[in-house]
Amino acid sequence: MCTPGLKWFVAALTALVVCRVLVGLQATPPGNSSPLPAGVQTAKMPFALSGTTSCSARSCHGGIEPVAGQAIQQDEYTKWVTQDKHAEAYRVLFNDRSTEIARRLDIDEAHKSKLCLACHTNPLAAVGSQPSVFEERESGVGCESCHSSAPQWLGPHTTKGWSARTAKEKLAAGMKSMSDLPTRARVCAGCHVGAPATDTTPLRDVNHDLIAAGHPRLNFELAAYSANMPPHWNEAAKKKERPADVEGRTWAIGQIASAQAAIELLRDRALKPGPQRPWPEFSEYDCYACHHDLHKESWRKKRADSNRQPGTLPWSAWYFAMPRFLAIEKQPEIAAVVDDLKGLASIMRKSSQHGAQVAQPALTAKEHLQQLLDELAKESYNQAFLRKLMNAISKADPAFAESGWDGAAQLYLAMAALAPHDQRTRDAVHALTVTSGFQNPNNYQIDDRFVDELREVLKKLAK
Ligand code: HEC
Ligand code: HEC
Ligand code: HEC
Ligand code: HEC
Repeated sequence: MCTPGLKWFVAALTALVVCRVLVGLQATPPGNSSPLPAGVQTAKMPFALSGTTSCSARSCHGGIEPVAGQAIQQDEYTKWVTQDKHAEAYRVLFNDRSTEIARRLDIDEAHKSKLCLACHTNPLAAVGSQPSVFEERESGVGCESCHSSAPQWLGPHTTKGWSARTAKEKLAAGMKSMSDLPTRARVCAGCHVGAPATDTTPLRDVNHDLIAAGHPRLNFELAAYSANMPPHWNEAAKKKERPADVEGRTWAIGQIASAQAAIELLRDRALKPGPQRPWPEFSEYDCYACHHDLHKESWRKKRADSNRQPGTLPWSAWYFAMPRFLAIEKQPEIAAVVDDLKGLASIMRKSSQHGAQVAQPALTAKEHLQQLLDELAKESYNQAFLRKLMNAISKADPAFAESGWDGAAQLYLAMAALAPHDQRTRDAVHALTVTSGFQNPNNYQIDDRFVDELREVLKKLAK
């Protein structure tokens, strides 16, 4: 379903920067040390969540073995708790690495800090002090973090006829379908890109302060992250249900939804700076613009980005390198998006820029991205569409040279997601020595040999 390179690649991405600063990554689970304050009763109180434990009964989703011949196999909790890192998300806040991050940020305890809990448990459980809140925190990123709060649909979803309902009907009843890609993309991006605070959920932001303190950089890409989640669902049944173009579709929708989430976070950062929220925010920029060795003849001096003065700060390309390629047959929507992003990039690179200058263009970009997302959700990612997309990407050399390591990495992920549909791309992607390209933590830049290889592949694809 996914190229074997992807799993490895995502791990390498997070390792790349962080491994320089961090030692002692060994986990120290909390064991029996309960986070419940002394004297707190665990009796259920009214709460916006039903709680992951309420899904875990043997006869519900906590079965030991999958129920044969069923679409819903009722062992989802068991699979999640034994295989999925989300189940560990709260526990990692007790490990040495989290302790170090907290110490460097002058936080008392990571597992009590809203700053960390915001994404390392259900965001709704990150705030508040009822016993049910503490209980849900222990489940890490539990069922309702993705499938949405259950009190409304918990009863109805156990009744006959529920499974025959469409995703729309389930949504009307309050349950989000993770099969619906725009919905899924938005949910994942909330924690994997970040999100402004809402009335009920705290700010979710891994900024440069957190990264410099030791947090992994967040490099989200929906297709790779979806493929890397251990399936707690009936994969065989899902395969039959899914459209044949699911990988390309996941990639495309993920690109736009992630760009949108990144823009929303940018706008929030720009408008609401504070003591713990510096502005300009360094993680908005290309990491390797600041973190690199100094060479007499570096590729930075040579790169083909004529719009930018040497020495100015390039806006990060991670979420913005690819959306422009989705231009294919989407002229009005994409033209607006491309212009918005160009405008934002030029504001961002001015060292004298004011947060307020970003606000309106960011809002406009967000709206145009939504239009594009709506269009792309209708798209059929047939062979012809994918071929056109690959051709557009294959002509991207100058653009990708300007976007450096992030652009190269996104390009690789695009090829990997689109490859299953196209023999030529598949062969080319498999031929890349990805490992040498990305696994070079001693060097704050992409490996030259890999860039050459990427160029070769692109040339072949363009033919
Ligand atoms: C915006 C959401 C968000 C916030 C806020 C956040 N994290 Fe994370 N954290 C993540 C995600 C997502 C990952 C997984 C990254 C990946 O693998 O791509 C992660 C990974 C980690 C890891 C590595 C886990 C492992 O298995 O190796 C540690 C440790 C960690 N976070 C600690 C913290 C601490 C401590 C704080 C608060 C200071 C914090 N996080 C705040 C989202 C967040
Ligand atoms: C990190 C997000 C996430 C978490 C946490 C999560 N799920 Fe899921 N769940 C998914 C995704 C993604 C799918 C697959 C959708 C697809 O491929 O069509 C899915 C599918 C399912 C399905 C199959 C039916 C359906 O809606 O497609 C069930 C049942 C399910 N999850 C139950 C659970 C339970 C129970 C828990 C908690 C123990 C849980 N999930 C936790 C993301 C999540
Ligand atoms: C409530 C916040 C939250 C949501 C929503 C969420 N995640 Fe995560 N995710 C995390 C955190 C925190 C970690 C790190 C956990 C750890 O290392 O123990 C993580 C880890 C992961 C990992 C493992 C990464 C690695 O380095 O091994 C994958 C894959 C992943 N998430 C995919 C997804 C997908 C796909 C979705 C949407 C269906 C999603 N996540 C939704 C918070 C979240
Ligand atoms: C505008 C310049 C700038 C940008 C852009 C930038 N950083 Fe930094 N970074 C710094 C400075 C300055 C320090 C503090 C160095 C010190 O304390 O010695 C730092 C420190 C760090 C540290 C801890 C010290 C180290 O060298 O390991 C890490 C890790 C880090 N940054 C990662 C990143 C990542 C990842 C990105 C991109 C998301 C990024 N930085 C973007 C300037 C920048």
